Amino acid sequence: MSNRPFIVGNWKMNGNRAMLAEARAIDRGAARCPGVRVGIAPPFTLVNTMADAVQAALIGAQDCHAEASGAFTGDISAAMLADAGAQFVIVGHSERRALHGENDAAVKAKAEAALAAGLEVIVCVGETEAERDAGKAEKVVCKQLDGSLPQGEGVAARVTVAYEPVWAIGTGRVPSVEDVGAMHRAIRARLSAIYGEDGAGVQILYGGSVNAKNAEELLGADEVGGALVGGASLTADSFLAIVLAAAGPGAE
Ligand code: PGA
Repeated sequence: MSNRPFIVGNWKMNGNRAMLAEARAIDRGAARCPGVRVGIAPPFTLVNTMADAVQAALIGAQDCHAEASGAFTGDISAAMLADAGAQFVIVGHSERRALHGENDAAVKAKAEAALAAGLEVIVCVGETEAERDAGKAEKVVCKQLDGSLPQGEGVAARVTVAYEPVWAIGTGRVPSVEDVGAMHRAIRARLSAIYGEDGAGVQILYGGSVNAKNAEELLGADEVGGALVGGASLTADSFLAIVLAAAGPGAE
């Protein structure tokens, strides 16, 4: 765990070798902002090449299988990601939960596999719009934390939580700073209940339509330790603007 803000780009199913130039430019920007941890999670096909191409940025993946190896056609294990040069993996993204039917238990198994392979893990949680409208957002997110977070001695130091309201992902809509702060405080309280003292050190990222314009405000909300960025992470220009917002005044 680090106290530095953690800004992670989730490239989703975007990116080819031509885009390594963007990753290199992001990496150069990351080197100029040592006060910020910068991560990029490209598609599997680019993890190895990108890990070799960068120095300052951390490279991760967007998913992994819960088993280390075996007859799982089309899947990639955490051990393979570590072997390819990945340092972290995102698990439980709402697109995985919704489109691949991943429930909390599956997410937890993946998170535990990631830790066992020596990776850091970013566990995503977040409510749907209907759940927020019904006043259940905190309850839903706390239940996801209870079911998805890996357990065990010393585990919290390698876990990051990303709070991503499903309705804010890719929509251009973001919660108010007050709502972000309230949810992040609720997540912090739950982390303390789950991990005891170690829960205080877990970074909590906000994700969902973060861009150069809103980053400073969102990163200033209570208990926000960084951002998980989708669309705005695909070019160095837009992503580095968010990194700079995290670096704070004086950075350029
Ligand atoms: P977005 O995606 O920044 O494009 O909303 C965030 C995410 O899904 O991680």
